This record gives sequence, C-alpha cells and structure tokens, in this order.
Amino acid sequence: MTATPSDKPDIFETRESAVRSYCRSWPATFARSQGAKQWDEDGNEYLDFFSGAGALNYGHNNPAVMGPLVEYLQSGAVLHSMDMKTPAKREFLQTFQDLILKPRGLDYSVMFPGPTGTNTVEAALKLARKVTGRQHMLSFTNAFHGMTLGSLSVTGNSMKREGAGIPLTNSSKIPYDDYFDGEMPDFLWLEKVLADSGSGVDKPAAVIVETVQGEGGLRAARAEWLRALSELCKKHDILLIVDDVQAGCGRTGSFFSFEEAGIEPDIVCLSKSISGSGLPMALTLFRPELDVWEPGEHNGTFRGNNPAFVTATAAIKTFWADNEFQNQLADTIAELHQRLDSIVEKAEGASIRGRGLLAGLHFEDTEVAEKVAAYAFENGLLLETSGPEDEVIKIMPALTIDSRDLQAGLDIIEAGVLKFAPAAAKAALA
Ligand SMILES: Cc1ncc(COP(=O)(O)O)c(C=O)c1O
Repeated sequence: MTATPSDKPDIFETRESAVRSYCRSWPATFARSQGAKQWDEDGNEYLDFFSGAGALNYGHNNPAVMGPLVEYLQSGAVLHSMDMKTPAKREFLQTFQDLILKPRGLDYSVMFPGPTGTNTVEAALKLARKVTGRQHMLSFTNAFHGMTLGSLSVTGNSMKREGAGIPLTNSSKIPYDDYFDGEMPDFLWLEKVLADSGSGVDKPAAVIVETVQGEGGLRAARAEWLRALSELCKKHDILLIVDDVQAGCGRTGSFFSFEEAGIEPDIVCLSKSISGSGLPMALTLFRPELDVWEPGEHNGTFRGNNPAFVTATAAIKTFWADNEFQNQLADTIAELHQRLDSIVEKAEGASIRGRGLLAGLHFEDTEVAEKVAAYAFENGLLLETSGPEDEVIKIMPALTIDSRDLQAGLDIIEAGVLKFAPAAAKAALA
C-alpha cells in the first residue's frame, strides 16, 4: 500500500471508490496550480497538457477570473440561487448575448441545465424529443456525450455503455466522418434510409454530433462534412445538436467549434470552460422557436452557480470582447501543428488527429500512446490518452499557454514518441 509522507495509509486508496481513474495514471497529489502548470505537494512541477479535460481553457487560476471571483466571494453576494434572478446571472446573460451571440449573428435561448456536460446533453435530447414528438436519436461512432443514461445511449464506447447496466435504447449509431477511411461516400447509408419508408429506421428527433471527438480518438469532422450533415438534417426536418462541451469555448480556434463550417445548429451544448475558471456550469442553447418547455419541466438544484456566472462573465469580457485573443490563439495553434508535423515525420505509423488545441497523435501500434503518456508523467507533463483503445495521445494545453511552455511540453512528447514508436524509414536513414 502506498504511504503518505507521514507513513499513514493513503486515504485515497483505502477510502475512495475503485471508480477513481486519473489519480491512477497520475499518482501525485496536486496542491497548487497556475496557468499551464501544477505542482504536487512535494513541490514537483508538472506542465499541464490536459487542462481539466477542457474545463481550464484559460489556464489554472487565471488572474482575469480569480480577481472578480475573490471579490464576489467576499462581498456577501448570493452564491446559490436555483434559477432565481441575481445580478451575477443578469451580467452573464447580457455579456453572453452582447459578446458571443450577437457578433456571430446567433439568436439562441439560453437554458441553464444542471452544471455538467452530461446535464446539458440530457436537456438537449429531452427538448429535441419534446419538440418533434419523436423518440429516436442518431449519434456517431466513437461519440462521447456523458455518463447519465440518455447521454450514454448516444455514446459509443462499449465499456462505458456496459456500465449502464440496462439496455440503452432509442438511438442508432451512424459513421462519423472518415470512419471508412474515405472508402464510402459521406452519409450514403443515412441518405438512403431516411428516404426509404421501408428501411425500418425510425425517423430521429435529432442527430447529435461533436465537431471533434474529444474522448473517442480525436477525429475531427471536415467543415464540408458538417455542412452536408446540417443540410441533410434540414432536408428531413431533423434537429441538429452540436455537443460543444469539449470543443467549444475557443478550443478549436473560435468560440464555437462549428463556426469554421458556417453551420447553425438547432441546439448547442456547452459546459467545461464556459465558466472560465473550472467552476461547474453548463448551458443549453436553442433556437427560440424550440423553447417549448413548461416552467420547471426540467430543473435542478445547481443551475444558479453565481460564482461561475461571475467567472464566466470575466472570461468572456477578457478574451472575447475583440479579436486579439483569437488571433494569438491562431498563432499558438499554428505553432502546435507545425511541431506535430515534424514529430510525425520522424515516427512510423504516427498521424495527427484533431483540430486547434484539441489535437492528438494517433499510433498504428495501439500500445504506443499509453507508453508516451506514462513517459510524459515521469518527465513532468500531464498528457491524457483518447480513443477506444487509448491509441491516441491527446494534446490539450491551456489556450493561453506561452511558446516556451508549449515547446517544453512538445519536447517531452517528441522524446517519448521517438522512444516508443518505430523511427520512420526516412528519419532512420538520415
Ligand atoms: C463532448 C462531451 N460531451 C459531454 C461530456 C460530459 O461532460 P461531464 O463530464 O461534465 O458530464 C464530455 C466530457 O468529457 C464531452 O467531452
């Protein structure tokens, strides 16, 4: 049994449920964090290319959000408010409308479901069913939408699905972009079954999609594929839900990950970095015509997390009031992808996955990614794996990371890749 410095049994191992997972890959006890770094309680430093699975897009303890948060906490203002009105919530809604929705020409009603990603997905599925009167959902191979039953029913991963313990019904999986490695025309099956009343596939209420599959292996959908999906949904009167829980809030280079494709989903799910601070918060956005909820028909105790409204407002005002942050982000994305290009040239069977700062390296040898991630941790870098067989390393630094930290983390990744993946023939000859 691992002992703490004081030689007491490790309470995490003796008391915490076996379901814990990240602490098994990264057995440090993290005590402090700032920007793109964390320190364990022994003072060891770690570069963080995990960013709270996308909940810390602006880095740890960003002063831009921490100042207003501390001020709010000390002011005697309301912390918990269900869905009652508070000045903090008013300020958030106004800021979100003025700086996020209006400049993008988007008109969405804003719903506060419970504070997690799976809460917004559940609300989206429920609303789509209520609006259309249909039960069936379509989702994609390798999709990940969360751990509650509705979200699991549209998730791909078999291990997670089995955890439900009951049949996960009312949904079908359809091939994500490039599932057949370019050998099948896009949406061949879907077009056919939707047009065929004898296909036996119930007309779905909605299609739910991630523009980049954060947990399922970092496949990124092409813009034209997303546009074709959106067109297909319109043609058949099916709602399009974009789950932007992980890819949203700047991760792919724009506030919403679907901006590049120029599509306007009917429903959008946001969580993770919407609070800008790591505090729990989620939004479900939908076209106002779809707002058919009865008051209180969907509710939850933690929809009014005022400290999260405060940090969300501060983050939006700091990073999204003009184009400066987005331009810097474009440079960081270019720097990351240039370096990834050079790494894959040196390693056999390695290829780049993802988009923006939601990127990854896929290895043909499915054991390489986990070895690289373990090597990264030994060398002071938090790096997660993704994909059904953990065959992809997932590179997800803070969007605010500076070039020095980015390159330092990539140096560790490159060293790990060169250690565990076979050298590319070209590189081996050189
Ligand atoms: C795309 C997507 N949707 C939903 C979720 C679920 O979010 P949460 O873990 O906050 O419930 C995740 C979590 O990783 C996600 O990546």
